[in-house]
Amino acid sequence: MNWPDYSGAEGLLKPCRCKDGSFSLWSEDYGQAFHSERGAIQEAQDTFLAPAGLERFAPGSTLRVLELCVGTGTNTAVLLEACQQRQLQLQWWGLELDPQPLQLALADQRFQQQWPHQTVEALKKQTASIHWGDARQTLRGLQSQLVGRCDLVIHDAFSPGVCPQLWSLEFLALVSQCLAPQGRLTTYCSAASVRQSLLTHGLQLAGLKPHAGSARHQWSGGTVASPSELPLAEPLVAFSLMEQEHLRTQAAVPYLDPTGQGTAAEIQEQRRQQQQSSGQLSTSAWRRRWQQGEGLRNAGRFPPS
Ligand SMILES: C[S@@+](CC[C@H](N)C(=O)[O-])C[C@H]1O[C@@H](n2cnc3c(N)ncnc32)[C@H](O)[C@@H]1O
Repeated sequence: MNWPDYSGAEGLLKPCRCKDGSFSLWSEDYGQAFHSERGAIQEAQDTFLAPAGLERFAPGSTLRVLELCVGTGTNTAVLLEACQQRQLQLQWWGLELDPQPLQLALADQRFQQQWPHQTVEALKKQTASIHWGDARQTLRGLQSQLVGRCDLVIHDAFSPGVCPQLWSLEFLALVSQCLAPQGRLTTYCSAASVRQSLLTHGLQLAGLKPHAGSARHQWSGGTVASPSELPLAEPLVAFSLMEQEHLRTQAAVPYLDPTGQGTAAEIQEQRRQQQQSSGQLSTSAWRRRWQQGEGLRNAGRFPPS
């Protein structure tokens, strides 16, 4: 494997275990785990693959997938297995800034032992062609190949509170343009700003069925978006009344990054000012009404035990 030079986060990633024992990483830089505390593989299946509707594709057909933030390659490995089981050809574009998560995962027995040998080998082969760099730039460079072609976009960046660069109105415009007419974007993220930006780009939205054992009953377990109407059949669900109202508060003010080069701090500050002058309902009133805490920041990605 040819690894690119990148020293942005060296030494700041720690291998850890999710509740189901699956391998994950904890990022000191972002103060966030790479996966849900429930389990990395479980999350890949429930949040990213189940809502993709792979059953819509006949055996032998080609599935075109854009994967944002490949990280350890857990979502990629689960996708590879699903394609193999369904006899789908995979055309895949993986985007990632930092080679370290994949290097750490592939060098770790606990990561490798989660899959049959052939899956690990297929993952190594697949990830050898990752488009390394800031996804804001690499995706721009891929637009001519991707516009209107992707059956599935897996969006697995760190949450908007810590990585707004990959959830801005402008970046989500680029991402939305990649979707084929019946294509689907899947993400764990249920932030109002992200949902509102996807709506602004003309996509139809659905929530994801809350995962078993979730204490956050009124929150769906993520977001699915498509240029076409989405069937509200499991695991896709309509937004709860609480989520619909959330979209009418200041929480829905988008992150803006017009140059595609803003830092997280710049993007956050610009949004804070925008929220103050927006005239939209304050989120604290909404929080009181629905008895919500400030819990969205880490989007369920707390340090796994
Ligand atoms: C939540 S983790 C991804 C988890 C991954 N899907 C997995 O299964 O391990 C977020 C990833 O986004 C990457 N990242 C952060 N900023 C980025 C950027 N601007 N462009 C591309 N990738 C970025 C991080 O290096 C990290 O690997």
